[in-house]
Amino acid sequence: MSTALILGASRGIGHELVRQYRADGWRVIATARKQSDCDALKEMGAEAHLLDVNDTAGIAAMGWKLDDERIDAAWLVAGVYGPRHAGFPTDVEFDEVMHTNVLSAMRLLPVVAPLVAAVRGKVAVISSRMGSIGERTSASGSLYRASKAALNSVLKDTALTYGGAGATCVAFHPGWVQTDMGGSGADLVVADSVRGMRTALAGIKPEANGSFLNYDGTSLPW
Ligand SMILES: NC(=O)c1ccc[n+]([C@@H]2O[C@H](COP(=O)([O-])OP(=O)(O)OC[C@H]3O[C@@H](n4cnc5c(N)ncnc54)[C@H](OP(=O)(O)O)[C@@H]3O)[C@@H](O)[C@H]2O)c1
Repeated sequence: MSTALILGASRGIGHELVRQYRADGWRVIATARKQSDCDALKEMGAEAHLLDVNDTAGIAAMGWKLDDERIDAAWLVAGVYGPRHAGFPTDVEFDEVMHTNVLSAMRLLPVVAPLVAAVRGKVAVISSRMGSIGERTSASGSLYRASKAALNSVLKDTALTYGGAGATCVAFHPGWVQTDMGGSGADLVVADSVRGMRTALAGIKPEANGSFLNYDGTSLPW
């Protein structure tokens, strides 16, 4: 049986990844930062672990828990948008967005990627088109954009480090999705975004290691 790991599965895109993988008969290991969300994930048939992705000790503990696992598909989903005002970010806002969207990836991907490489599996981070510098036509959400551009850089380094060992590592833009972050006016329902990304990830070959992909599998500029 194939195993998926979903980091940040309490709601939104992560929650839907758990639902779809379970519906397809996968074993699912999922994380959330509240016990009530872990309980709900267990009811969906997932093995759930408490993890705040900003908790260094929690990441180390997660490494121990996952030590013997072999992961076919690992998804780093947890993320925050941060301030929606146009002024300078405060130190607190900067730290929350950069720690959650970037530092967590720098800490979690080296734990997860070797478990994926062992079965020649795949690592996906949920980035955003807003992080693309090549496609940029607006400066709104500047801190979020900077964090996703930095996340893309971390993904590329992860691809360089673990691709040769067998892990195919990609960044996804999930589309503009109807979640708490995307809002009800977004283009896509979460089921369609997740179905698209799962299909794309299942179909990619090792040559795609280090790519930035739209949810439909088409290539995006960095
Ligand atoms: N929706 C969109 O249109 C869109 C577009 C581009 C990219 N994305 C990206 O897609 C990912 C998922 O977003 P979403 O749309 O599903 O948003 P969401 O519904 O707001 O969900 C955000 C998820 O991140 C988790 N999270 C945040 N900080 C965390 C932390 N410190 N530790 C553990 N979990 C944490 C949340 O957990 P709690 O429930 O505990 O807060 C929640 O599960 C994010 O990385 C986002 O940037 C979304």
